[in-house]
Amino acid sequence: MTKLRSRVIGMGSFLPPRVVTNEDLAQLMDTSDEWIVQRTGIRERRWVEGVTSTSDLALQASRRALDSAGLDAEDLDMIFLATLSPDHFFPGSAVFLQTKLGLAGIPAIDVRQQCTGFVYALSMADQYIRTGSAHRILVVGAEVHSKGLDKSTRGRDVTVLFGDGAGAVVIEATKVETPRSDAHLLSTHLFTDGAFAEELWVPAVSTAFDEEIVDQRMLDRGDQYPKMNGRQVFVNAVKRMPEAVETALEHNGYEVADVDLFVFHQANLRINEAVAQRLGAAPEKVFNTIDKYANTTAATIPIGLDEAVRAGRLQPGMLVALAAFGSGFTWGSALLRW
Ligand code: UT7
Repeated sequence: MTKLRSRVIGMGSFLPPRVVTNEDLAQLMDTSDEWIVQRTGIRERRWVEGVTSTSDLALQASRRALDSAGLDAEDLDMIFLATLSPDHFFPGSAVFLQTKLGLAGIPAIDVRQQCTGFVYALSMADQYIRTGSAHRILVVGAEVHSKGLDKSTRGRDVTVLFGDGAGAVVIEATKVETPRSDAHLLSTHLFTDGAFAEELWVPAVSTAFDEEIVDQRMLDRGDQYPKMNGRQVFVNAVKRMPEAVETALEHNGYEVADVDLFVFHQANLRINEAVAQRLGAAPEKVFNTIDKYANTTAATIPIGLDEAVRAGRLQPGMLVALAAFGSGFTWGSALLRW
């Protein structure tokens, strides 16, 4: 029976040109290239300069995705933008992206699921495609972390991990007749456990603390910067990402060995090595970008997909598994026949 499914028809990514090495960070805080490389696998990351915002990075990645699909912005029915570093408190950044693309009218929706944001956005977009409500959707992950990090030694456990960047895909409705070979998004699986919300979060600006959303005491405490219980995040990430992949494979009747490429969220090389080991996946099937871009949260997976295609690692017909874990805690997976 023919089924309406999503298919990726274009992708693009954009990394700001300014490279910030571990040595550069060691000039700002008490850290070292050796510590960062050993604990995380990160060697450098990108930081924006000047007034560049999240929607500016999203725009560049989106234009590239549209170009690679051979489409104009006017061909889109919807926009989803996943980010934890929005241009403003409100409205969401998708509306700024929409107008920068020269569009008006179509829905433009922000997704706030942090490192799992792209998987959530892809899943939500897929539901509109499956029901026939939309034909072509732009799904973007974009982040400007560098403006929101504590660059003193106080913030070193978090600040060395993050980088700026954006990635985007265009998905289109396709009629799938032969599920085992036709290119399409097979499934997405999403999970959340809010009991862990404060293990990785930015406490302020906040409606939860005081009568004003921001006050001097919050700033004095550094509540505007991310706070993380690194060990707790690590332990849960190496458990939840393999679970999410296994759920996807079971749901579709595949096994780990059937997967040609894994594109995991990139928070720490050691996490992804542990995830591959737990799954029993061959390390060479895991595509990593963490050494050069660090953790770009919602942007990581679409950047990874774009780079994997450019590197010739992701080719038509391949089975590709995506998985992410992050603040919330949120986690999830997606399985695609490319
Ligand atoms: O997408 C989700 C986002 N986040 C993650 O996935 C992060 C998950 N967690 C991790 O990746 C790891 O927990 C970290 C890389 C953050 C930390 O690695 P760790 O092996 O768990 O180190 P630790 O937290 O146990 O810290 C060891 C030491 C501490 O010093 P003491 O207490 O042993 O004297 C830290 O103060 O390393 C110190 N430290 C640093 N030293 C140099 C923490 N950050 C730094 C730093 N440079 N940047």
